[in-house]
Amino acid sequence: MHSDDHILEYAGAFRLVRKIAQGGMATVYEAEQLGPAGFAKRVALKVIHPHYAKEKTWLQLFIDEAKLSANLVHGNIVQIYHLGEVEGQFYITMEYIKGPTLRSMIERHRELDRLIPTTIAAYIVSRVCRALDFAHNFAGPDGHRLDIVHRDVSPNNIMATWDGHIKLADFGIAKATTSVDPMDKSPMLMMGKKHYMSPEQILALEVDGRSDVFAMGVVLYELLTLEPLFFEDATELLIDEVTWRPLPNIREKVPSVPKAIDEVLMASLDRDPAHRPSAATMGKALDRWCEAQSVVATPDRLQEHLAALFPSTYQPSTASGEVTRFSNFQHGLRRNGHDPRGWLGRLLHRMRA
Ligand SMILES: Nc1ncnc2c1ncn2[C@@H]1O[C@H](COP(=O)(O)OP(=O)(O)O)[C@@H](O)[C@H]1O
Ligand SMILES: [Mg+2]
Repeated sequence: MHSDDHILEYAGAFRLVRKIAQGGMATVYEAEQLGPAGFAKRVALKVIHPHYAKEKTWLQLFIDEAKLSANLVHGNIVQIYHLGEVEGQFYITMEYIKGPTLRSMIERHRELDRLIPTTIAAYIVSRVCRALDFAHNFAGPDGHRLDIVHRDVSPNNIMATWDGHIKLADFGIAKATTSVDPMDKSPMLMMGKKHYMSPEQILALEVDGRSDVFAMGVVLYELLTLEPLFFEDATELLIDEVTWRPLPNIREKVPSVPKAIDEVLMASLDRDPAHRPSAATMGKALDRWCEAQSVVATPDRLQEHLAALFPSTYQPSTASGEVTRFSNFQHGLRRNGHDPRGWLGRLLHRMRA
């Protein structure tokens, strides 16, 4: 455990439960935020490394972005609860997500040498598109769009809850991280997930929501093939790869990818942002395809998939032995003689009488 992070415990605000991960910019803990009379709420606590917080420009950008994203409350977005500071130690508390990142889902599938079912991949991406659409069009209290861009849509920042819901994490945080690097004062720098950047982002041009749509396409490609779309390590070569080299034909690599999905993918990966769909259009196209399938993707389906994929770590929030299915619920009602359709039918009958 990073010794400085104990300041937060000494301040009496938190109990650190376990360290989840230590990255370049921050350490993430599972923690309990403490209140009076034994009140405790489970949160994810992201503690910013001190050398970042000491860099004024970086800190200002970071705080500005956190303030912008603070009110993004949406079912597919990891909610930020608080940005705080104790003795110069900056931290963010956010919704604690019990479940794997897409990165670990992809890795697990690679280990098993089994593709992710297209319905599951399409479902996941469609949910992230909803999160992006919400953020891209989010308006401040005065009704003006805030033009929020995620900037770091990548498999590490997309998580699944064990009960089958998809959450996009770290809104806006990337702006500070990709604009100012306190460890290296070079003007053109790229940290983090450069392999998911759009052409305009990797060229350090102006970005808007359409940049996130490109990144979403890069993630979709990887979900369907289990291979990264862009892999060059040297930044100059990666720029070539992202900005102009011909993209691989996904159906040559994975023939089972349906044509409709390939079309959505290629549209999102257009090098020209003006030709890309909005996040909403991309999400709806995936939804339309999903709805036409015999096995429709739902949170239940994803939950079952995760239970089979991670048998030793799977731990849903409820202790129920079976996946909660709304359809089972209806069956149960019918079996007990409370057929909701019968009830509605009787009501309509009585109204007509
Ligand atoms: N809200 C959260 N709830 C649970 N785990 C989280 C949450 N946010 C991040 N994590 C975990 O912490 C890890 C590190 O997160 P982060 O510091 O954002 O770096 P990165 O996104 O590059 O992985 C993530 O990969 C994930 O496993
Ligand atoms: Mg992250």
